Amino acid sequence: MGLRTTIEKVIDPYTISCPDRNHQHTIDSISLKKKIDHGFNFGLNSIMSKFTNKIVNGNSLEILKKIPDKSFDLVFADPPYNMQIGEKLKRPDDSKVNGVNDKWDQFLSFKDYDGFCKTWLKECKRILKDNGSIWVIGTYHNIFRLGYHLQNLNYWLLNDVIWRKNNPMPNFKGTRFTNAHETLIWASKSKKSKYTFNYQSLKCFNDDLQMRSDWTLPICNGKERLKKNGKKVHSTQKPEALLHRIILATTNKGDLIFDPFLGTGTTAVVAKKLGRQYFGIEKDKKYFLAANQRINKTNIIEDDCLDTLQNNKSKPRIPFGSLIEMGLIKPGTLLFDHKRKYNAKIMADGSLKCQQTEGSIHKVAAKIIGAESCNGWTYWHYQSGDNLKPIDDLRERLRPVS
Ligand SMILES: C[S@@+](CC[C@H](N)C(=O)[O-])C[C@H]1O[C@@H](n2cnc3c(N)ncnc32)[C@H](O)[C@@H]1O
Repeated sequence: MGLRTTIEKVIDPYTISCPDRNHQHTIDSISLKKKIDHGFNFGLNSIMSKFTNKIVNGNSLEILKKIPDKSFDLVFADPPYNMQIGEKLKRPDDSKVNGVNDKWDQFLSFKDYDGFCKTWLKECKRILKDNGSIWVIGTYHNIFRLGYHLQNLNYWLLNDVIWRKNNPMPNFKGTRFTNAHETLIWASKSKKSKYTFNYQSLKCFNDDLQMRSDWTLPICNGKERLKKNGKKVHSTQKPEALLHRIILATTNKGDLIFDPFLGTGTTAVVAKKLGRQYFGIEKDKKYFLAANQRINKTNIIEDDCLDTLQNNKSKPRIPFGSLIEMGLIKPGTLLFDHKRKYNAKIMADGSLKCQQTEGSIHKVAAKIIGAESCNGWTYWHYQSGDNLKPIDDLRERLRPVS
């Protein structure tokens, strides 16, 4: 068939059930790949409209089977915890605690829970795009099991994040430590995935400090917490702030996000606000209706406020030597680490000399800190008036204004 091929052979079986299937388009494989990369999947597009900016009241295990392969950029899953709470929890004054003893959290055994998790995690992997990633959140009751299944299914673990709650529920019986955090696992579909991570945006979000894997955020309270007749609608509604950070960090504007356990719709609400697309499934009608109402009331942030900062890796490469060639910094100038503990002299060829060590800005910095590699652009600083500024600031001056 050479470079020319028929679409029906290339696109997965979903095209077969779509209205386009009678059309025998021919196209060269390069243009076809481009169109697929841009999400223009012919019949797949019309199928995907069923799963875009919609939520469904149903069982994820059933609905997932109907979703085409490689459809989503991100999955966020907040599954049942399998907390195995038997007796009702009480405060010292005998009042009842609204813990998670809901029906949706009950499983017959660990085996039963494991079977459930393996099924949905496997399906989520199938429906993720090759460069997609997944977040799962849980407590000590279930997060280790989720991590085990993720690795067995060949997801590639990228981080675990501790969500430290600054207002956790106390341990009323005083028999254990206050359970003050939940754990999130972030994993890409495979080791090779070129997953989205808006590093620069997150750094900026965090006052120019690299975002760490321990996040302190309050639990969902106040106006944000959905209530009916004074009672919480859902026992585990997640705070929008948590989803804001996740969606901002690991998706781009227009990306499609899936939540198989939507609850009150937090994922969809934040996705909509941030100009992302969403699809969610919730089994319980009461929660589904609450989510629907909440999503309808949500306004999208203005489009021109939704751009993310470009990561350095995706910017054109500018070598350190260019700064010298362009006269932004002179040979002989001293560079310093941010604490002024070390200094190095710039040579005319763009190398640095620091005591007995010489080499590139990266090699000399790595040698000083005793690491295999180090980003010299952020390690080295130049004197600007009374202050030290990273040499990366000089590199920024050479970038074309977009
Ligand atoms: C931990 S809660 C999610 C809360 C949600 N993140 C929020 O912010 O409101 C888990 C949810 O999964 C739902 N659920 C449990 N099993 C399900 C299934 N098989 N399919 C769809 N939803 C399910 C439960 O009804 C519950 O609302």
